[in-house]
Amino acid sequence: MYQERVLSGMRPTGSLHLGHYHGVLKNWVRLQHDYPCLFFVADWHALTTHYDDPQGIEKATWDMVIDWLAAGVDPEQATLFIQSQVPEHAELHLLLSMMTPLGWLERVPTYKDQQEKLESKDLSTYGFLGYPLLQSADILIYRADKVPVGEDQVPHIEFSREIARRFNHLYGREPNFEEKVQAAIKSLGSKRARSYEHFRTRFQQDGDATAIAKAHALMDEVEGLSHEDRERLCGHLEGTGKMILVEPGALLTEASKMPGLDGHKMSKSYNNTITLREDEASVTQKIKRMPTDTNRVRRTDPGDPSRCPVWQLHEVYSDDTTKEWVQAGCRSAGIGCIECKQPVIDGILKEQAPMRERAQRYLDQPALVREIIADGNEKARCLARATMTDVRQAMGLNYR
Ligand code: TRP
Ligand code: SF4
Repeated sequence: MYQERVLSGMRPTGSLHLGHYHGVLKNWVRLQHDYPCLFFVADWHALTTHYDDPQGIEKATWDMVIDWLAAGVDPEQATLFIQSQVPEHAELHLLLSMMTPLGWLERVPTYKDQQEKLESKDLSTYGFLGYPLLQSADILIYRADKVPVGEDQVPHIEFSREIARRFNHLYGREPNFEEKVQAAIKSLGSKRARSYEHFRTRFQQDGDATAIAKAHALMDEVEGLSHEDRERLCGHLEGTGKMILVEPGALLTEASKMPGLDGHKMSKSYNNTITLREDEASVTQKIKRMPTDTNRVRRTDPGDPSRCPVWQLHEVYSDDTTKEWVQAGCRSAGIGCIECKQPVIDGILKEQAPMRERAQRYLDQPALVREIIADGNEKARCLARATMTDVRQAMGLNYR
């Protein structure tokens, strides 16, 4: 059966925090059960903004992989790898750069935004302009159907779709396309082959769009239909030629509502984070030092949870009974703030306990992490090579 492929990447920018856990990693862990997933460290992307100080990238990479594993990303289910260890990404990036209009890159909204935001850095570089194109290569090289990302990345996914479309338009007619299509139709079996032809006629002659969905459903049933043949059949169905590169879709991750220690969104740049594997004493300290409702000066002053960042953490970590206890106790000055913070501390420590435990194994045996990544790199390269063979062939670069 054809299974949609999921791919996502993260730049190695230092320890992950609970905002990453609630916003991204929990989602990855969920997805890995339902789809073949590829998750990678975008270390080249880190260089686009840290080219002047690349020394920290290696450590950040390994720390981040441990954070993923700690969060429950399972190397038995998902493929974990490092971008720079699959040099095919760079080759595809280069080939795509030949047909990418400069204006498309200049118009990506993150380009100007980030340049303005990070104005202390000189980001008028070739690499930084090409950021979304490198990201497109990351995605297209695996023919990923779904890319889980946050809202800020949606323009990049859109961009990848446009690049795939342009590529297919320019190079999509592989030599022997017709022959290969006929062989692929034959491999459906005679009964399905007849239905496929029927749906194709219905779409192309009668413009019946439902026929496309039906043909896709029919292909889904076929055991062992290769990615490549499926693409040929899709191309033939819609009369577009072979789709060498697959247009990905964004799988929008709901924006993390994880509040930080000051009530603003948890983020490294606000300096209000708790890291994924922060030690217990430090977590306890940080929560104890959190500001509370500023109107509650004395223990006897009643407070208002809606004016208190601690309450926001109760919303993430506490059950209804505890939340009612907070609401009533705060408003009546029945409880003190120290008391109120304890269930939050307990909640965070409880969430972190299994993460710390999983991480410890990898900290004790770093070779395990290296093996997981070596294995993932190999699997990823295998997929990437297959796409590159088609890409080179489509562009007339398969010299023998
Ligand atoms: N740009 C992404 C981010 O900052 C990271 C990234 C690089 C990525 N390549 C990717 C995400 C490919 C998804 C798919 O979050
Ligand atoms: Fe905040 Fe709890 Fe203190 Fe109320 S009792 S101000 S919710 S910490």
